[in-house]
Amino acid sequence: MNELSEKNVLVCVTGGIAVYKAVALVSKLSQAGFKVKVIMTESAMEFVTPLTFQAMSRHEVYTDTFDEKDPSVIAHIDLADWADLVLVAPATANVIGKAANGIADDMVTTVLLATTAPVWMAPAMNVHMYDHPAVIRNIRRLHDDGIRFIEPSEGFLACGYVGKGRLEEPEKLTELVGGFFSGTKPLQGKKVVVTAGPTRERIDPVRFLTNFSSGKMGYAMAEAAAGMGADTVLISGPVSLPEPPGVRVVRTESAEEMLNAVLAEYDKADWVIKTAAVADYKPKEVHGRKMKKQEGGQLLELERTADILLELGRRKSHQLLIGFAAETNDVEKYAKEKLEKKNADYIIANDVTEANAGFNTDDNKVTLFGKHAFEQTFPLLPKKELAKRLLTAILEKEDANDR
Ligand code: CTP
Repeated sequence: MNELSEKNVLVCVTGGIAVYKAVALVSKLSQAGFKVKVIMTESAMEFVTPLTFQAMSRHEVYTDTFDEKDPSVIAHIDLADWADLVLVAPATANVIGKAANGIADDMVTTVLLATTAPVWMAPAMNVHMYDHPAVIRNIRRLHDDGIRFIEPSEGFLACGYVGKGRLEEPEKLTELVGGFFSGTKPLQGKKVVVTAGPTRERIDPVRFLTNFSSGKMGYAMAEAAAGMGADTVLISGPVSLPEPPGVRVVRTESAEEMLNAVLAEYDKADWVIKTAAVADYKPKEVHGRKMKKQEGGQLLELERTADILLELGRRKSHQLLIGFAAETNDVEKYAKEKLEKKNADYIIANDVTEANAGFNTDDNKVTLFGKHAFEQTFPLLPKKELAKRLLTAILEKEDANDR
């Protein structure tokens, strides 16, 4: 008997080829000590029989809303109430579409409406389906309803394509479920918006201005926030990093696009973490055609981009604003100036010239500055670990302020 054996996980299996991985998932969850029950849709049963899931979960499998096995209860309400977590895996485009519109025409979708437990969806589908605007719209809507998405991974898809659409591995899903129940969730109920990576400011169709930011620190901040239970949105400039689990990612290119994406989330945000290395200047003129080289030098006239953090500071109502400061000298002085000038609550400052820290490294060494001379220095740490410690430090400081 461990603490997980007290937890009830309801796995909703919908019809895609990844159903075979759901069998392994139910097996792993059971082995990890959870009580697992399974609901299958009609189409899921085209791939695997309920008997397989019954054997893996050691519980009867539910398939039909009107098949009331126990007259003393209404099955879909009973199951909805029984669950401590509902995990839809694999989640097809169809179930995502139905759930986004509140449709309840089978046991799975009915339970999704009836439950008050957290709902997670692990999509699996063809890469083009996953990229379809309707699917993107439905995922966004469900995300806003509080449903957490476990992004599919990239690789060979059963349909023959290579791309994003593979159900996250059963081991990883089991680990996330375990983390959900065992970890503390101090950011539960909060919406955290993180920006990450560089921006690109176009010069002509083949050239742009950018910087060395890899996005690693921002992605680590988003992963840590989601791990602490926050409803997390990651607004990312162009980077090549895997999307953190349980995080909604919005892709942007220029500073202006990033500003608009952040503003679209700002009203509902509780925390905004501005990790992105935003360009301060953009070319005054963007050439429609490739610029041809000329004899002699070339002058590029630049103009200022919007300062996103400054703008957020101006519009701040209830939000906690956390900025970064990448400096090559006078770190403390500039960080404190940015805290004031941008009306931020915290500035996380790092010296990007320091060995093994800063841009495009796996580790970082920072100092956290807050209002009223608050200052905390962290040792050189892997960015993922540092992100957790930074969020914890800010939470503790905010709790202390509230007391
Ligand atoms: N920032 C922003 N928009 C900009 C520039 C910066 O939102 N156009 C944010 C960054 O995301 C970061 C903070 O402001 O959280 C500080 O960024 P940094 O590049 O260190 O400083 P700058 O504001 O650009 O100031 P300076 O050029 O004087 O260093």
